[in-house]
Amino acid sequence: MGTINPRPVYDNEGTEEAIRQRKIIEDLKTNPKRPKSFFLSTMGCQMNARDSEKLRGILLSIGAEETAEEKADLVIYNTCCIRENAEQKVYGRLGYLKSVKRKNPGMKIALCGCMMQEDAVIEKIRKSYPEVDLIFGTYNLYKFPELLETVLESDSQIIDIWDKQKEIVEDLPSVRKSSFKASVNIMYGCDNFCTYCIVPYVRGRERSRKPENILAEIKSLAQSGVREIQLLGQNVNSYGKGLENPISFAKLLEMVQQVDGIERIRFMTSHPKDLSDELIEAMGSLSKVCPHFHLPLQSGSDRLLKAMNRHYDQQKYLDIVRKLKETVPGISLTTDIIVGFPTETREDFLETLKVVREVRFDGAFTFIYSPRIGTPAARMEQVPEEDAKKNFSELLKVLEEIGEENNRQWLGKPVEVLAEEHSKNDPSMLTGRTAHNQLVHFVGGSRLIGQMVEVIITETTPFYLIGKQKNLLD
Ligand code: SAH
Ligand code: SF4
Ligand code: F3S
Repeated sequence: MGTINPRPVYDNEGTEEAIRQRKIIEDLKTNPKRPKSFFLSTMGCQMNARDSEKLRGILLSIGAEETAEEKADLVIYNTCCIRENAEQKVYGRLGYLKSVKRKNPGMKIALCGCMMQEDAVIEKIRKSYPEVDLIFGTYNLYKFPELLETVLESDSQIIDIWDKQKEIVEDLPSVRKSSFKASVNIMYGCDNFCTYCIVPYVRGRERSRKPENILAEIKSLAQSGVREIQLLGQNVNSYGKGLENPISFAKLLEMVQQVDGIERIRFMTSHPKDLSDELIEAMGSLSKVCPHFHLPLQSGSDRLLKAMNRHYDQQKYLDIVRKLKETVPGISLTTDIIVGFPTETREDFLETLKVVREVRFDGAFTFIYSPRIGTPAARMEQVPEEDAKKNFSELLKVLEEIGEENNRQWLGKPVEVLAEEHSKNDPSMLTGRTAHNQLVHFVGGSRLIGQMVEVIITETTPFYLIGKQKNLLD
């Protein structure tokens, strides 16, 4: 676990509100009713992971200790609703929590995150889950100290959901998961309304943070030892458009490149429709920007891309890939793919496979389409589940073959790995990532965690690489 970050100086990011919440944090420290222990479960994407770092920072600041199980004074689920199974998981956990609370009536249960921005969910919890004490959403996460204070004094269910963001408030404690690798939000929300996706409804309109605030945060992270930065946004390519002094994402990367101490810069996610030549050139010229690009394809079929409201076609996607490969030789490419989107035919799916084979992705997040209430695609003609499942396993097979072939090229080659942690299956091994974002396992001790280690690849699999430290080889 990392340390609480030094307080960076920001201007104009809801400073007054941050001061108010910070004051409540001070009061909570001496409040006898404050939770002494908490359990925090985070579902979903890196946006939620980053939000949880903020919740954790607040709770540790008031002196609560984190537990690994749900037996705690406060249990928080930071939820996701991108697919139905993410929601089912939450209801499943709530059923279990009910029995935990029966044995420990003093415990408080809080729910937050994207799922709480859905009206139907709030209705269901209000009706069927009275044991939940506090519900808040994605726009008012920074109000958590105040909400917590209220809930400690109350026996009724408190629901505080906003339907949009009032201001960006950043200046609160936050505990980063790692002390050498950190995510930084550069923008919030999404304006793209892909027809299958719920994110624009639960995360609201696109809002960029000012570059000077982002840089202040990154500089303070670098001073505390962070070497790798991941810039986060649902669509980083449209970063900076709504700002008073608009700037491009490529320009922001140039600024981050200047920060001393930062050695690697990554970002997520890029939408192909807004991907500029300026960004591709920046990828080629900025030494700290990693040679890895995550470029969600979703589908290779022009007809489906249109129905998804993605604003690019197969040709445009392949053109971007060609330019990226020309500008950054050896670049690693990863993607997101949805199988079973409404009306998808075998021919549509074969177009996706065609792109997969042509691009030769180094990795992919693959999903079976899940209808989300309120999105246009949920009202389109759905496809039989068996067809989607069959295509899905075929896609996995092809991706695995390509992954295996791609990874084999690394055999015998030296790579630089930022060692992150002990391997889950074998504690004598360390796990880390190369600049190309390849996962590497190698034998090593704790003192290497957080260091850049030279490793020679000795074995490959479709999904990860195995190596030996260079200075240990005979
Ligand atoms: N903003 C990012 C993606 C965020 S969601 C982008 O545009 O790329 C992450 C991934 O979840 C998406 O890329 C998509 O592949 C998948 N996804 C989103 N909604 C989905 C749904 N209803 N069913 C299945 N997969 C979905
Ligand atoms: Fe969802 Fe599309 Fe926005 Fe990504 S770009 S978050 S897939 S609406
Ligand atoms: Fe992320 Fe899930 Fe919300 S994917 S933005 S946590 S709906």
